[in-house]
Amino acid sequence: MELRGLGYVGIGSREPEAWRHLGVDIMGLMPGDGPPTAEPGPLWFRMDERCWRVAVHPGEADAFMYAGWELPNRGAFEAGVDELQRCGVKVRRGSEALRATRGVADVAQFDDPFDNHHEIFYGAMIDETPFAAPHAGGGFVTDGVGMGHALYVVPSSSDALDFFVRIMGFRVTDEFAWGPFGAVFLHATPRHHSIAWIDLPLPGGPGLNHVMIEAASLADVGRAYDRAIDAKVPIVNSLGQHSNDPMLSFYVGAPGGFNVELGWNGLMIDERTWNVRTYTGRGELWGHRGDFMDSIAEAKDPAAP
Ligand SMILES: [Fe+2]
Repeated sequence: MELRGLGYVGIGSREPEAWRHLGVDIMGLMPGDGPPTAEPGPLWFRMDERCWRVAVHPGEADAFMYAGWELPNRGAFEAGVDELQRCGVKVRRGSEALRATRGVADVAQFDDPFDNHHEIFYGAMIDETPFAAPHAGGGFVTDGVGMGHALYVVPSSSDALDFFVRIMGFRVTDEFAWGPFGAVFLHATPRHHSIAWIDLPLPGGPGLNHVMIEAASLADVGRAYDRAIDAKVPIVNSLGQHSNDPMLSFYVGAPGGFNVELGWNGLMIDERTWNVRTYTGRGELWGHRGDFMDSIAEAKDPAAP
């Protein structure tokens, strides 16, 4: 599948105001009007010229609802639907109403083997009002690489490889081999990873662990970190740098039981010269102290002090 990265994400929320606070006041997203064709209701957040990149749907539950993976055009979209169906994946073609709500030319929905909801789409609507967010002066890194990445906790890395590599067409960038467990990072664009997973038994169980968005300016990340501390937003990983991407980032706990990572300067790879790497260490150059990395260390080695 000719994937062009993570195009958008959708979140369900009992308290959309909490998401407005986290998204706009802390992380620096721009509140948007959403697609002009959409039904009223969701909160829409912009990161660039697109009508939206993050939708918060008011509802009964706080939950990550869907990840939308972009394809470049109709031909690639139809080929993507065909490939999924050929591999036995149940695909639901988007209705007129769903296309209007997502603000795309076409969309199809399906689940991975772990019941996470995914969509493929093409033809996202552009908002001609220039992107401007008071807390993201430098903007976000999205051009040609998607809005960021999504990391899932999965019960089986081999089932995940089968689905996301063989069926969906992501390509492995690198992985951490921790005895029987591991973490795998995969790309579809120059972005080091658009999707990743860990097969550790982390608290909260399988499902989405975090979504990462990338600021173009280090100062925007630093100022967001200050705002998160001032607003007493739970910081589940302090500022730090992963060893593989090596993104400088921090993580906050979000409503819905997952985290949001705000990063800067993540590695962009050149597919033509890239060789898959294997790591065996902790995964950090420095920092990222807090509940999230602690839970990984604990799950890898429950006997450790
Ligand atoms: Fe991440």
